[in-house]
Amino acid sequence: MTAIPVPPADLRDIKTLIPATDIALRVRTLAKQIAADFPDDLMIVSLLRGSFVFTSDLIRALHHAGCRPQVSFMTLGSYGSGTESSGTVQLMRDLIESVEGRHVLIVDDILESGRTLHFTRELMLERKAHSVRIAVLLEKPGKRKRDVNADYIGFKVEDKFVVGYGLDYANFYRELPFIGYIP
Ligand code: IMP
Ligand code: MG
Repeated sequence: MTAIPVPPADLRDIKTLIPATDIALRVRTLAKQIAADFPDDLMIVSLLRGSFVFTSDLIRALHHAGCRPQVSFMTLGSYGSGTESSGTVQLMRDLIESVEGRHVLIVDDILESGRTLHFTRELMLERKAHSVRIAVLLEKPGKRKRDVNADYIGFKVEDKFVVGYGLDYANFYRELPFIGYIP
């Protein structure tokens, strides 16, 4: 019998880095900018699993900003079950929709080495997207391995392994309403 996984750290040990209220305010501001920049067409490509919480808040904020996006999902993997990236990006589940001729906004949880977003941007361009922009909730500066920048950034964070608001450690802590770290 396989053992049932348990969270790697006690919840009481997780320190808050960005409170939920700060995230909500920032998401609203980003949505206004995005709505203004994509007046005619917006195809959101949300990268699973980490960005599902950010995407769901962002699209509702986009609604309030007058934007009518379409939303698609792709599942990518680069991390194993720990906190170190494996270095290769795997396409685990592809988009259902075509991006040809579309104004694509890739949405991800965090830009770190840039491998994930570089891979996805190249794929969207290969598939003849009309334009490709990138929105991330978090950016960790100084860790870049690929030449890629985000057009919309929620917060820059220090070099700590962060969890919550969709981001995981061994697939735990995604449900936390705030961004935290394990000291
Ligand atoms: P990159 O390809 O190295 O830029 O990393 C992107 C992916 O790694 C993100 O989409 C996250 O899923 C994951 N990741 C990077 N840093 C963290 C972290 O601090 N906490 C949780 N996941 C992370
Ligand atoms: Mg992840």
